[in-house]
Amino acid sequence: MSGIRPTGFLHLGNYFGAIRNYIKMQDDFDCYFMVADLHSLTTHPDTKHLKGNVQRVLAENIACGLNPDKVALYCQSQVYETSELYLYLNMLAYTGELEKTVTFKDKIRQHPGNINAGLLTYPVLQAADIILHRAKYVPVGKDQEQHLEMARNFVNRFNHRYGDVFPEPQAFNYNEVLVKVPSLDGSGKMSKSENQMATLFLADEDDVIRKKVLKAKTDSGPKENNSEKPEYIENIFLLMELVSSREIVEKYEADYNNCTIRYGDMKKQLGEDMVNFISPIRNKVETILNDEIYLKSVMEQGAEKARKSARATMQIVREAMGLNY
Ligand code: TRP
Repeated sequence: MSGIRPTGFLHLGNYFGAIRNYIKMQDDFDCYFMVADLHSLTTHPDTKHLKGNVQRVLAENIACGLNPDKVALYCQSQVYETSELYLYLNMLAYTGELEKTVTFKDKIRQHPGNINAGLLTYPVLQAADIILHRAKYVPVGKDQEQHLEMARNFVNRFNHRYGDVFPEPQAFNYNEVLVKVPSLDGSGKMSKSENQMATLFLADEDDVIRKKVLKAKTDSGPKENNSEKPEYIENIFLLMELVSSREIVEKYEADYNNCTIRYGDMKKQLGEDMVNFISPIRNKVETILNDEIYLKSVMEQGAEKARKSARATMQIVREAMGLNY
């Protein structure tokens, strides 16, 4: 089970960091992937763009290969059992621990005019999302470790008080080093909020992709055979490994090692390979976004699967809690 915030416009980092993992998991597990629209209300109470953002994030995930027939792909707000479980879990969460959550402290700094209770209980809602399906594995990045730790605490408190109902959820990845997609400006990784020119979005037009890649930082080339690469050059090679063929990567490795590399050519090649990688996804996203009936049916089908699992869990929960008179 995992949640995807509907912030729209996924980038290459999201693709290689998260989505590719989901796509692999869909063949190995019973998966629930959810668009966390309720979570977004904690910081974005204005819902004017919410529907469009939800549709985009669904379309982008499907275009990348997530198959709504294999997984339950649904919207959080359409499965009301989430809110019921959230309420019960709130009684087991202490305000002290919630106030200490790193993401809470970050968010009150970013939104000092809107420190609402939903923001405080964000990790409780996230725990409800997960255990609603009695999920064991949660494919998330490092930034969600604390939320998962809290989910395990709530689970243990629940189980201790009301009986063994929930497994302890844990972070999941395929034992591979998580792919970090480097930013094009030479340092850090691609990110939505930082330097937009250094991040490749799945929605970028071909000429924008080429332009961004050509702007990537390089220098006049190595002076000595087999020298170590500076970070910004290493990053270009890393990006190339993600989207170019092995022969091409090997050619530029060899050119680098014997000091004949021409970064202009390399970036042109990388630009084309990026375009070939991104443009089919972008076009698919557009096709899906233009088909509202399809998107609605995906959400309905996903919600139906999620509700089925949620109803079964909630029946057990109410029994365990003695709310069955
Ligand atoms: N908090 C997660 C994020 O910021 C999104 C999320 C919501 C989530 N509910 C979840 C992730 C349940 C994993 C499981 O990315």
